[in-house]
Amino acid sequence: MILLTGITGNIGGATARALLARGEHFRALVRDPVKAAAWAEQGVDIVQGDLEDPAAVRRALAGVDRALLVMPNGEFQERVEVSFVRTAREAGLPWIMKLSSPEAVRGTTSPIPLAHIAAEDAIRASGMSWTFVRPSFYMQNFRGSVKSARATGKLSMPMGSGTVALTDNNDAGEFIAHVLTDPESARHHGQCYDITGPDPVMNFHQVAQAIGEAIGQPVAYDDCDPKAFQAAIRPFHRNEWHSDAVARLFAEIADDRTPGHRTDTFQQLMGRPGRSLKEYLATLV
Ligand SMILES: NC(=O)c1ccc[n+]([C@@H]2O[C@H](COP(=O)([O-])OP(=O)(O)OC[C@H]3O[C@@H](n4cnc5c(N)ncnc54)[C@H](OP(=O)(O)O)[C@@H]3O)[C@@H](O)[C@H]2O)c1
Repeated sequence: MILLTGITGNIGGATARALLARGEHFRALVRDPVKAAAWAEQGVDIVQGDLEDPAAVRRALAGVDRALLVMPNGEFQERVEVSFVRTAREAGLPWIMKLSSPEAVRGTTSPIPLAHIAAEDAIRASGMSWTFVRPSFYMQNFRGSVKSARATGKLSMPMGSGTVALTDNNDAGEFIAHVLTDPESARHHGQCYDITGPDPVMNFHQVAQAIGEAIGQPVAYDDCDPKAFQAAIRPFHRNEWHSDAVARLFAEIADDRTPGHRTDTFQQLMGRPGRSLKEYLATLV
């Protein structure tokens, strides 16, 4: 039996859709069953609880032999993920898969990748079999950019001359479902899968050009002031910690400390290319 976490969010939800499409029966741990009602109607076995609550995690893990750990970014991420790992190890979970990030590279001083590194380390030390799935910069990060590019003719982000490889959320979910349901599961143990879509690594001038082609009007990259950007994104984030952490992550991209790196891991395991940025943007216009 598979346990998913985070199914009311992006990647957990995409994984749940992909598992249902494969006819897989699975369980999900959710904080608010009302938010998961549509999943329950489709046959998902819902357990109510918090990832940080050992009793709820133990209930959710009964009879489970593989689990996906997904957490949003926040000052609590490391604490909650490490707590889940501890309870899963004590409960005897055989195989844990963690959604992580390719920016989780030692030497970073940015809080988001540091939390991922701490959780990856806890998993490696746990004795459980593990797999890390680390999608590159989500194409969905540009969801709001299309609307604002139409209004302003600009893609305003403080990314300097930094570069990114891009991944579609749905591809990440399909990849995770593929690995979780592979009958030869042992070949995924101890693997760290950095996945990307098929596009070459792009700078933000190239992303702006792609958005312009999608909406049929020129869009220029505006390498805006990081502080002004942080103030602009603040309403979309949970608190000051979150918008500051995103700003620090973007500063590492802008400085080219974490340059984009395209991989063919998705193509190799899935036998098909992932969705391109052009294909993704076409769904928004
Ligand atoms: N953005 C990028 O470009 C990028 C790239 C690579 C990796 N990542 C990583 O992707 C992760 C975020 O994934 P996402 O976008 O799928 O997140 P998301 O959409 O924010 O979803 C987070 C999920 O976690 C659940 N959750 C939060 N706290 C919980 C708790 N204490 N107990 C149980 N469930 C809890 C949420 O449930 P509720 O509905 O109850 O809130 C929600 O279902 C981050 O770790 C980030 O670093 C991001």
